[in-house]
Amino acid sequence: MGKKFKVLLYESMHEAGTALLEGKCHVIYARSYDENDLIGQVADVDAVIIRANGAVTEKIIAAASKLKVIGRHGVGLDAIDLAAVKRRGVKVVYTPQANKESVAEHFVALALMLAKKIRLADIALRQCHWQARYELIGTELRGKTLGVLGFGRIGQQTARICHCGFGMPIVYYDPLEYPEAQKELDARQVDAKTLFKEADFISINMPLLPQTKHFVNAKMLKLMKPTAFLLNMARGPVWKEADVVKALQEKRIAGAGSDVYEVEPITAANPLLKLDNFVGTPHMSAHTEEAMMRMSMVARDVLCVLEGKDPEYAFGSE
Ligand SMILES: NC(=O)c1ccc[n+]([C@@H]2O[C@H](COP(=O)([O-])OP(=O)(O)OC[C@H]3O[C@@H](n4cnc5c(N)ncnc54)[C@H](O)[C@@H]3O)[C@@H](O)[C@H]2O)c1
Repeated sequence: MGKKFKVLLYESMHEAGTALLEGKCHVIYARSYDENDLIGQVADVDAVIIRANGAVTEKIIAAASKLKVIGRHGVGLDAIDLAAVKRRGVKVVYTPQANKESVAEHFVALALMLAKKIRLADIALRQCHWQARYELIGTELRGKTLGVLGFGRIGQQTARICHCGFGMPIVYYDPLEYPEAQKELDARQVDAKTLFKEADFISINMPLLPQTKHFVNAKMLKLMKPTAFLLNMARGPVWKEADVVKALQEKRIAGAGSDVYEVEPITAANPLLKLDNFVGTPHMSAHTEEAMMRMSMVARDVLCVLEGKDPEYAFGSE
């Protein structure tokens, strides 16, 4: 039986999702993330699925005359030109529930690494520098205040683990109110300045938007306690990396952690990599086996749109 649809995948994904697509679609992969290359591949595709790399620009959308749906493997729609999507009447589906657990757990992992000085301790151990047990004095999470910038799915899950597991009081900054989660987690909604002043650990979980670019900058960093830690779990440009580097170099805050960077992939020239009070990972907080499988289920919603059914998670319809 001929396959009815053609789908362009920007990157490979978990076999559970690929198998769904291959049953009904001719699947092709992006040759590169160069806009002209992509334009050359989209003329007859019904759907594209984007992951972390590349962008779905206005020109790509214009060149894809049969395009009906764009799937985002994961969350964060900043690489898709949503205005162009709207003009063309193309649907966007994504997997908003797929990776909140893995990103929230990753925050806890980095926060514990910073608080307990695990990276330095591991380096010391491998050098048989036993004396490190007296030099590397950690701090506990229990009872420390967590400030969540952007109290959405990931922010709330992070708060849940920290509140239930470590008895951490929660403050959050978000233009939306979340009365149910607030009650469940005994959380307090505050303005951004109060959050930066009060929190011992700050988790950045707001989306990258024109108004959130460099939201965390020198002015905000100056408000932080010298004992506080700042962690970026959202997108590199939400914080001004140069300002964070300066605060870390001058030891004005206790430490920082990140999964995301202003320039990705990171290069050896990035000054964060030279700092002992920084821990980081290469944009992989959503990459657990479980989350990868759940994110690949974007394929199910892409097929729903192609077959004229209602998708579970369409952008703008929640
Ligand atoms: N590191 C990774 O691999 C990874 C994985 C998944 C998501 N993310 C990032 O995390 C972000 C959050 O994901 P989510 O699933 O929790 O999204 P979400 O939409 O559920 O939550 C985002 C929250 O941010 C709030 N917000 C919007 N503008 C704000 C502003 N100016 N100030 C403060 N808060 C603001 C929203 O009201 C919402 O409550 C995504 O946008 C994405 O960029 C990163």
